[in-house]
Amino acid sequence: MTVKKKLLFDSDAIAARVKELGLRISADFPEGDLLLVGILKGSFIFLADLSRAIGRACQIDFARLSSYGGGTETSGVINVVMDIGIPVKDKNVILVDDIVDTGLTLHMYRERVAQMKPRSIRIAALINKTSRREKEVQLDYFGFEIESGFVVGYGLDWDERFRNLPSIYAIEQE
Ligand code: IMP
Ligand code: MG
Repeated sequence: MTVKKKLLFDSDAIAARVKELGLRISADFPEGDLLLVGILKGSFIFLADLSRAIGRACQIDFARLSSYGGGTETSGVINVVMDIGIPVKDKNVILVDDIVDTGLTLHMYRERVAQMKPRSIRIAALINKTSRREKEVQLDYFGFEIESGFVVGYGLDWDERFRNLPSIYAIEQE
């Protein structure tokens, strides 16, 4: 199978947008404990850049959720493979993900984190993919909006490939 890639957002555009998000988050949380939780694996590059664009102290942890068996279709079942390891209670938590598609993953995980009694929960995703939403997810911060399609690069994979591309591409399968 040939995979064609079409450039959507180049690394300069991503860097500029991530800086803006970092400034907004710093302005929204001038004080209080701030905990960034990266949803693995797709968020690893976005979280690395976003955390450095936030000009204040914060804690960082990760959770690993799985929904995709591989390829581009969701299985509809979400497992918490690894949960947040440090205390969440009374902290301002931002869940950081690569992309929100159906919304099932973050809808479920947000409810789970709410039970840990944080002071607040917000969601940051690099990409808001709008056309397949099944569960409403309040996206407090997002970098870019796309309607549909499958995108790779900057942490996002297609069957574990392309995560290390510095820019974001739409893939076209033939
Ligand atoms: P959701 O539960 O349908 O919102 O999807 C959540 C996860 O599916 C994301 O965190 C990604 O890991 C993956 N995903 C959804 N769309 C794409 C895409 O276009 N490219 C790469 N991964 C995607
Ligand atoms: Mg993901």
